[in-house]
Formats: sequence, C-alpha cells, structure tokens
Amino acid sequence: MEKYIIRGGNKLKGSVNISGAKNAAVAIIPATILAEGNCVIENVPNIRDVTIFLHILRDIGAQVRVLDEHTLEINTVGINKAVATSELVRKLRASCYLMGALLGRFKSSLVTLPGGCDFGVRPIDQHLKGFSALGASSCFEAGAVSIKSKKLTGNSIYLDVASVGATINIILAAVKAKGKTTIENAAREPHIVDLANFLNSMGANIVGAGTNIIRINGVEKLKATNYSIIPDQIEAGTYMIAAAATNGNIKIDNIIPKHLESITAKLREIGVKITEEYDSIQVSSSGRLKPCTVKTMPYPGFPTDMQPQIVALLSTSDGTSIVSEDVWDNRFKYVSELTCMGAKITVDGRMAVIEGVKRLKGSPVSATDLRAGAAMIISGLSAEGITEISNINHIERGYEDIVNKLKKIGANIEYVNIAEEGNTIPKAF
Ligand code: EPU
Repeated sequence: MEKYIIRGGNKLKGSVNISGAKNAAVAIIPATILAEGNCVIENVPNIRDVTIFLHILRDIGAQVRVLDEHTLEINTVGINKAVATSELVRKLRASCYLMGALLGRFKSSLVTLPGGCDFGVRPIDQHLKGFSALGASSCFEAGAVSIKSKKLTGNSIYLDVASVGATINIILAAVKAKGKTTIENAAREPHIVDLANFLNSMGANIVGAGTNIIRINGVEKLKATNYSIIPDQIEAGTYMIAAAATNGNIKIDNIIPKHLESITAKLREIGVKITEEYDSIQVSSSGRLKPCTVKTMPYPGFPTDMQPQIVALLSTSDGTSIVSEDVWDNRFKYVSELTCMGAKITVDGRMAVIEGVKRLKGSPVSATDLRAGAAMIISGLSAEGITEISNINHIERGYEDIVNKLKKIGANIEYVNIAEEGNTIPKAF
C-alpha cells in the first residue's frame, strides 16, 4: 500500500517549478487522434493520468515515443477502429474525450463510460447534446456509449451549463465537421484555450476560445504539429496555499500569473503576501491568516479544483470562513478527514462553515480524491505531529513528483510503498 508520511511544522522555503497542466494534457493527447502524422508534445506532466491515457492510446493502435521526461511523440495513424473499451478507460474522467476525438475522425465511437473523482453525479448529457446537434446519435451499450453519424455537420449549440468536458468534446467532434459550429455558454478555462491553440496549430479554424462563444469552421485535414502545454494553474495554486499554510516563503516558477488571478486575489484578501513576475510568483505569509468567504465558479471564478486546498488553509485561520461549492454537488466528502486532524468544519449541502483552530494535529487520513489529497498534504505540512496519507494514487494521478518537489522546498514528507500483489499502476510514462 502506498502512503505519504508527513512530519508537519517545516516552513516551506526556496523555489518550485510547475509542470504542464494535467487538464490540458488529457485533452491534447486524445486530440492527436485527429492529426495525420507525428505530433510532438512538450511540457507534458509526468503523472499517472497521462500514463494511463498513453496506455489507452497504445492499446487502440497509436505509437507513443517518450523523447524525454516531458516530451512525447504521438502518432495515431495506426488507429483503425473507433473503439476504446478497456478497463483503463474507466479509470479516467478525461477518457470521455475519446468520444469526441474518435467521432471527429471516424464518424463513430464506442467508448466505455469514464471514471474519475467522485463528486456525486457526473452527467454527460451536454456532451451528447452537442454530438446530436452535429448529426450523431448516441445510445448506452453495456457500460459504454455508442455514437454514430453518417456525416457531421456544423451547428449552433447552447450549453445548459458551461461544462469543460462538453466544450472540449464538441470542439473535438466539430473541428473536421462540414461547415460552422458555434458553442454558446462555452467553458472558458485556460485548458480550453490550450486545446484550441493546439488544434489551430494543426490547421483547425477555431476562434473565441477563452470567451463564452467559440466558433469553429470545419476543415478537411489536420496536420501533425509540435506544441508545448501550458503550466498547471491548479498545481501552482496548491503550492501557493502550501506556502501560506506553513508560514513559508516560496517562489513558484513556470506559471502564467493571469491564470491564477482568482486564487491570488483571495489569498491576498486573507493576508498572504504575493508578488507577481512575468512567469513566476513569490508567496509568503506569517502568523494566522484572516477568515473569508469563497464561492467556487467556472473560470475566471475561484476554481472548484482549489476548494479543498483553501478549506484546509482556512481551517487554521483566525475566525469563521464560509466556502460554497457552486460547481459540484458533492465535493465536501473529504471534510471528515480534516476533522480527524482537529479542524472544525460543518457542512450543509454545498456549503462549509469553517471555524479556524490554532493548529491541526497530525493523524492517519485518506486522500478521498485528487484535490482532497492535496488538502491532506497541506494540512499535514502545517499540522503538529505526523500525518499518514493513504489512497495516494489519487494524488499521483495529478501532481507530478509532489514528494520531491515538496522536499526540495523544505517539507518533511516521505513516500512509502508496502508492495501489494496485483498493484500494476506504473509510476511514469
Ligand atoms: N455537467 C452537466 N452535464 C454535462 C457535463 C457537466 O450537468 O454534460 C455539470 C456537472 O455535473 C458539474 C458541472 O457541469 O456540475 C461542471 O462539470 P464539467 O463538465 O465542467 O467538469 P468535467 O469536464 O467533468 C473538468 C475537470 C475537473 C474540474 C471540472 C470543473 C478535467 C479532466 N476535469 O471536469 O477537474 O473539476 O472540469 O472545472 O478537465 C480535477 O482536476 O481535480 C478535476 C476534477
């Protein structure tokens, strides 16, 4: 069984380099299915979600060469069937992008329903509504989604919710459809812009990514390209909060400060000192921070993927904070783990009321999902005593080399693995 053991109390100091964005990588990797030739992708985060995605692509006929630790060459020409139904597909939320990418290339797809973090119901009705508008019909078949079309034709699609996944899937399906597609109420996250830039560099015609109206002019062919993935906004935000929680002082390199604005503004509001440079940020704090109110929202609002981390931070602030989760139905499951560490948090539906305590106490806790795991690390780093985090596969799915990155900036954290039979999840590409 894999665990992290943290001895809390060290202030983080020094500098940390941010990896490529997970949620951009897991959209760009399947987008290579639309290219005719070798795509070279740089700044790929070396995380388990990416490793799993590469296994899925290889399983269906793609060739993947690891050029260096963060650079991949992917050639999907050998994929000849629009079917992805292996067990691995179920392990990832982002495997749903295979639906749009395979549909875009083969005009049909059969893809196992995706897994991912459990925050309650995770519907795909908006994805299917988009495919349907383009002329495809879909049905569920033994745990998979079958999508078929004779021809994909551009259309106008108004999303009922600004879904990241639906926006990406519709872009993937529409980019080679005949004519014009408009996505209204589109998600605006930086990884949507990154995907559009990647596809445009292959010859696609996508405008408006990053706004809530995206226009796509279908093209016949997409050529192979070289592309570098943007830095991970959420990884950067997680280190910002870890610095604040430990009264540390760190420089975070290889970031786009604009992508962090909502996080920076909230942290400044509670007393964290932040100085921005062109592609780095200095974060420091001393003493107890002020309480605040946080509402998670789609980009450019405060990200839901930073909600557990800020709750962990506010658990030791000087007063009462309120955090409301406006994106997911059920994203406070991890709170019981924080209360084991002495946090005083009451959850009512989508709202958490946090009464800051002076200090958390180390305890055995479980990473109930990826960002909840990040919150456990932050709490363990600032707590008194030893925190033992189990279920860390969730964390390793999305944070590259987190143990060594944290050690380098002064954390006392160890990875331990008591080998179990049948544990075959690889640690690297
Ligand atoms: N929704 C629908 N119908 C749909 C799709 C979504 O009602 O067809 C609802 C969801 O239930 C949710 C909201 O819309 O309430 C937003 O869901 P969205 O589709 O935007 O989420 P996602 O694409 O499944 C991505 C990230 C998540 C992140 C969310 C929100 C990836 C692979 N995942 O998920 O990231 O929380 O956007 O920003 O990009 C993470 O990285 O830890 C993570 C969970």
